[in-house]
Amino acid sequence: MKQDGIGFGENTQHKYMALIRFAVLVFLCTTPIVIGQKLLRVCYYSSWSSQRNDGHALLPEDIDANLCTHINYAFITLDASGTEIHTEQPYDLNLMKGLTNLKTKNPALKILASLGGWEMGSMKFHKMVESHANMNKFAQNAIDFLRTHNFDGLDLDWEYPAARGSPAEDKHAFSELLKVLHNTFDAEKQRHHMTRLLLTAAVAASQWRTEQSYEIDMISRYCDFMNLMTYDFHGSWENMTGPHSALYSDDTLSINYTASNWEFHGAQKNKLMIGLPFYGNVFTLVNPFDNGVGAASFGGGDMPYYSICQILQHGRAQEIVLNKERVPYVVFGRKWVAYDNVNSLREKVDFVKKRGYGGIMVWAIDLDDTHGACGHKFSLMKSIVHGIKQNGAWDSG
Ligand SMILES: *[C@@H]1O[C@H](CO)[C@@H](O)[C@H](O)[C@H]1NC(C)=O
Ligand SMILES: *[C@@H]1O[C@H](CO)[C@@H](O)[C@H](O)[C@H]1NC(C)=O
Repeated sequence: MKQDGIGFGENTQHKYMALIRFAVLVFLCTTPIVIGQKLLRVCYYSSWSSQRNDGHALLPEDIDANLCTHINYAFITLDASGTEIHTEQPYDLNLMKGLTNLKTKNPALKILASLGGWEMGSMKFHKMVESHANMNKFAQNAIDFLRTHNFDGLDLDWEYPAARGSPAEDKHAFSELLKVLHNTFDAEKQRHHMTRLLLTAAVAASQWRTEQSYEIDMISRYCDFMNLMTYDFHGSWENMTGPHSALYSDDTLSINYTASNWEFHGAQKNKLMIGLPFYGNVFTLVNPFDNGVGAASFGGGDMPYYSICQILQHGRAQEIVLNKERVPYVVFGRKWVAYDNVNSLREKVDFVKKRGYGGIMVWAIDLDDTHGACGHKFSLMKSIVHGIKQNGAWDSG
């Protein structure tokens, strides 16, 4: 090794270099972006996407097995007693098999079964948590179901405890349920020397719903992680336009505010997955020339990103980015649509890294440009993966 004028001997130089390496390591480990930090990428896959006849159907085998670290199969449901798992569609079993087969392409990939969803509502979960006997029975049935179908865990998507017909005491009962499931999964692991089944929950983000439905510290204790549904902050059920997935806002309806609120109430940061929508919320304008944020609207719905990108590409509309909220919207005819694109998603990924959250969640992988209709297959998901890899804050393991 060439000596320079400073005059260290070889040995001294090694020690000196080791010291520098150590100092660099200490520096890196105490700054928010940690080398080797593994941000999770939890992707929902909706079973009904397999049945689309608009040229955008997505089958499990067409999903790149390295885009997500976890894929949640949406949804499985419950029988009337709330203790038995049901698959409702004839295609469920094939799709489940297709998803779990992706593990042969990426052995680190985890596949979870997501139970519930908006359509199933609250009452069957209410039945389940009515007694400890029911909860225990469900826990055993869940293990049977998950192991039989080669899943790695269970994602609870109760929308929502203590709401939509479920009484106020279900806020606490939900914590009890998670405790029972956690303990039962743990016991199974001990007994059979297997990898413990994962336990996660999709949870509402807004402050009022959070207060109504969740004991945050308990949920955070028993879940491996929580999928924060940080979208639908505004939608066609209101009478004026507004972005549904703002990163920041002057009110409480943003990722920044709601994630901080979950943290403040005891959620472990590394267990928070920030939800990112691959769809826009659509509003019908009362007056197409009054088309800013807060313009009068009636009705609407939602729109997959694969449709939005085609509208933009055909030059029928111009994207406008909201300065504070950091998300775009687009107006075409009487339609006003707020959504996320590669840039807004990258900013959100940077936010997640800077804040030290556990990762991101996506609703849903099948709403991405899965067929490359606008040029690049899975452009949104790839942008997220790329954003996470940057600055070394990622490892592929
Ligand atoms: C983000 O949220 C925090 C906590 O509520 C708030 O103090 C801060 O001003 C917000 N940041 C922005 C840019 O709105
Ligand atoms: C929307 O409804 C609220 C009350 O429900 C009302 O105060 C407000 O003026 C309405 N806004 C528009 C743009 O129609």
